[in-house]
Amino acid sequence: MIFRQLFDPESSTYTYLLGCEQTREGAVIDPVFECADRDLALLDELGLKLEYTLETHIHADHVTGADRLRDAAGSKAAVPEKSRAHHADVSIREGEPLSVGTIEILPLYVPGHTDDHHAYLVRTVDGARLFTGDALMIDGCGRTDFQNGDAATLYRSVHEKLFTLPEETLVYPGHDYQQRRVSSIGQEKARNPRLGGGKTLEEFVAIMNGLNLPRPKKMDIAVPANRECGEVQIA
Ligand SMILES: [Fe+2]
Repeated sequence: MIFRQLFDPESSTYTYLLGCEQTREGAVIDPVFECADRDLALLDELGLKLEYTLETHIHADHVTGADRLRDAAGSKAAVPEKSRAHHADVSIREGEPLSVGTIEILPLYVPGHTDDHHAYLVRTVDGARLFTGDALMIDGCGRTDFQNGDAATLYRSVHEKLFTLPEETLVYPGHDYQQRRVSSIGQEKARNPRLGGGKTLEEFVAIMNGLNLPRPKKMDIAVPANRECGEVQIA
C-alpha cells in the first residue's frame, strides 16, 4: 500500500493518503481545505486517482478539503451518516467497509469526542493501521465538551473498541501538537495518561471535566462549513 502522513501546521491536523499499488486508486482521510493543492500535487506525483475523501467526524478546528478535492479530482466525499452532512456522496457506517482498489477501510464507530466520530482500520500485509481521528491521540485524546461529546462515552469507545485490537496495531492520530507521528495500541494502553495505565472511567471523566479548554478559534466557521463537506462560498 502507498501511504503518506501529511501535516497542516495551522491546525496541527494529520491527513492520511492511502493508495492501491495495483489499481492506482487512492483515498485521503481528513483532508484540510487549505492543503488541497498539496494533496492534489502529491496524488499526481504518485500517479493515483482519488476515489474517496473520508472524514472521521465534523471537525471544529479546520475546514475539510473534501469539496475542493471533489471538484478537482472527481472524488466522492465519504462522511459518517451520523454527521448529517449535506452534499455527502457516501454515508459511512460501522460494519460497511469501503474498498479502494485492494485496500479495505473498516469504519469503527467510536463516539465521545463527538457523537458522529469514526476511526478507520486498514489491515495490509505490513500490519494494521488505525486512523483514530480525535478519539485517541498519542498520550491524549480529543476534548469531550462540545458537539455532543461525552467523556464516559469516549472512555467506553476507546476501551471496548480500540484497546481490544491487537497491541501492535499502529495508531495514527488526527492531530498532534508535539511532532509525534505514530503510536500503537499497546503503547497507548500502557501509557496514555488519560485513558491508559489502568485509569478508571471515573478518573477519566474527572480529568476531562477539569480541562477548561478555550473554544477552537475557527469553530464558528469550521462546523457549518464541514456540515456542507467543505463547500465554502468565496465572496
Ligand atoms: Fe475534532
